[in-house]
Amino acid sequence: MMKKIIFATGNRDKMREIREIMADCEVEITSMKEEGISVDIVEDGKTFEENALIKARAVASAADAIVLADDSGLEIDYLNKEPGVYSARYMGEDTSYDIKNNNLIKRLEGVPEPQRTARFVCAVAAVLPGGEEFVLRETMEGKIGYEQEGANGFGYDPIFYPDGFSCSSAALSPEQKNEISHRGKALRAVKEKLGKNL
Ligand code: IMP
Repeated sequence: MMKKIIFATGNRDKMREIREIMADCEVEITSMKEEGISVDIVEDGKTFEENALIKARAVASAADAIVLADDSGLEIDYLNKEPGVYSARYMGEDTSYDIKNNNLIKRLEGVPEPQRTARFVCAVAAVLPGGEEFVLRETMEGKIGYEQEGANGFGYDPIFYPDGFSCSSAALSPEQKNEISHRGKALRAVKEKLGKNL
């Protein structure tokens, strides 16, 4: 039987990227939703690593498979690393990203380019059926732009301009983004570490 990896996320955009990045794995990739797993998860960790572990452990307690969880977000240096672990909740979960992105651009009004540094962070936690756990963290460095650009990606991609590119991460193709993204790098590292377990 094909091995299975369950992702502890209900975020469709993340799940789409995860499937693209894990496409070369000889394992079945499913989400907790598809598995019919509904557990109450209180993401009250102070770091991406803590939150990723909280999610992975919660789902692992209801599953007999490798469980992975991604906790990610945007850190803007000028705003003391806001929105950080609160990226999804920033200005309220139901507020559109158009509004959130415009708000962040506004908060950086007049801030010169060298001080607009930011990064996307992704921590991926793994819990194996035997109880073994690990967490890996990767980043994508860049700057907050002066306007929104691009229609690919999701969330804060339209205002994030990755180092080495002259466009936002929402203007990159999915393949280009996955190649350099926090999530792409973290998941590839997890694949390598899972190695023989796959
Ligand atoms: P989480 O589901 O609690 O990990 O929240 C992650 C949030 O961080 C997302 O809802 C987005 O707001 C933001 N985020 C994480 N990764 C990305 C990305 O690749 N592009 C744009 N926004 C992202």
